Amino acid sequence: MRDFVQFSGVQKTYDGESLVIKDLNLDIAKGEFVTLLGPSGSGKSTALMLLAGFEQPTSGTIRLGGRTLNSVAPHDRNIGMVFQNYALFPHMTVAENIGYPLRVRKMAKPEIAERVKRALDFVQLGRFADRYPRQMSGGQQQRVAVARALVFDPALVLMDEPLGALDKKLREEMQVEIKHIHGRLGITMVFVTHDQDEALTMSDRIAVFNDGRIQQIDAPAALYERPANQFVAGFLGDTNMLPGEVAGEEAGALVVALKDGGRVRATAVDTLSRGAGTLVSVRPERLAVNPAPETPDQMPATLVETIYHGATARMIFRLGGGTTVAAQLRAGSPLLALEPGAAARLAFGQSDGRAFALS
Ligand SMILES: Nc1ncnc2c1ncn2[C@@H]1O[C@H](COP(=O)(O)OP(=O)(O)OP(=O)(O)O)[C@@H](O)[C@H]1O
Ligand SMILES: [Mg+2]
Repeated sequence: MRDFVQFSGVQKTYDGESLVIKDLNLDIAKGEFVTLLGPSGSGKSTALMLLAGFEQPTSGTIRLGGRTLNSVAPHDRNIGMVFQNYALFPHMTVAENIGYPLRVRKMAKPEIAERVKRALDFVQLGRFADRYPRQMSGGQQQRVAVARALVFDPALVLMDEPLGALDKKLREEMQVEIKHIHGRLGITMVFVTHDQDEALTMSDRIAVFNDGRIQQIDAPAALYERPANQFVAGFLGDTNMLPGEVAGEEAGALVVALKDGGRVRATAVDTLSRGAGTLVSVRPERLAVNPAPETPDQMPATLVETIYHGATARMIFRLGGGTTVAAQLRAGSPLLALEPGAAARLAFGQSDGRAFALS
């Protein structure tokens, strides 16, 4: 069922003036892991609050399992949630917090005890069962909130930056654990994060938000390889932007006269007519440095600096007109021996250059 969760034409304003959600259309299948990714203030948490039923849409409808959300009583929604401020019940211990959704559902005591124990182990907090939230760090409280959201096997789980306060190692472990639980229980997950690596590793699909709209929703690889607009190309991963003007078309490729001089062939993302300004986006790892002499469309460049990142290195070049671009190389590449100031040639494949209309 593709439309287990369905937003149709949803708008939301808090103050009656500005729309923080402008036109949200989103279908989520049962069992899918969908991540909302976007800059601060783009409307991710608001979308989650609407789905949880804590906020009402100003217009449009939200359906859950085929029923409009308003017609489903809160206790029938079977939604597990972790919110951005991960509020635990301060007067309950960790174990009591995690067991709360089970007590509400009138589960038998031994089963509650068993499930709470498993949930505590899952978030690596077995020793903390009898502590109160105020006696725990922010990251530990976050993990309790994650355990509480999953403990009752909900059909739908909403998580708003649940791993934000964790250090890198614990964060990566929890990502893997959450992903396993998701696969094992077949829950539908709507997950919010700022962190693009987290979104790329965990999601079946990522919805990129900006300014109250979904800019693109796609599987991680498709989103990275075929960003639909400049915002997505710039927000997800690093990209170089080469300014130019459309000079024509040739065998299905767009020919672009670069501001920095020379011509390149690229793939048109938007409709672009001759003479139109364009930005050609190329990922650093798709930029070839000093390719074979017969490679077409080479751009002369000067090396500015080389930055080491462990397994990879970035070489920063300046093109003829002053535009700087980055190329990513594997550590150990002989090209890394080039000294700053050295002349070089850069090139990319036609399908690796994506030409966007100026926005
Ligand atoms: N309760 C509220 N009353 C008024 N305005 C609000 C309220 N909640 C959010 N907003 C505004 O709505 C917009 C979207 O906020 P939202 O919390 O959905 O963003 P977000 O994408 O989750 O951002 P972040 O990544 O910082 O958490 C922001 O401009 C915010 O100031
Ligand atoms: Mg938020």
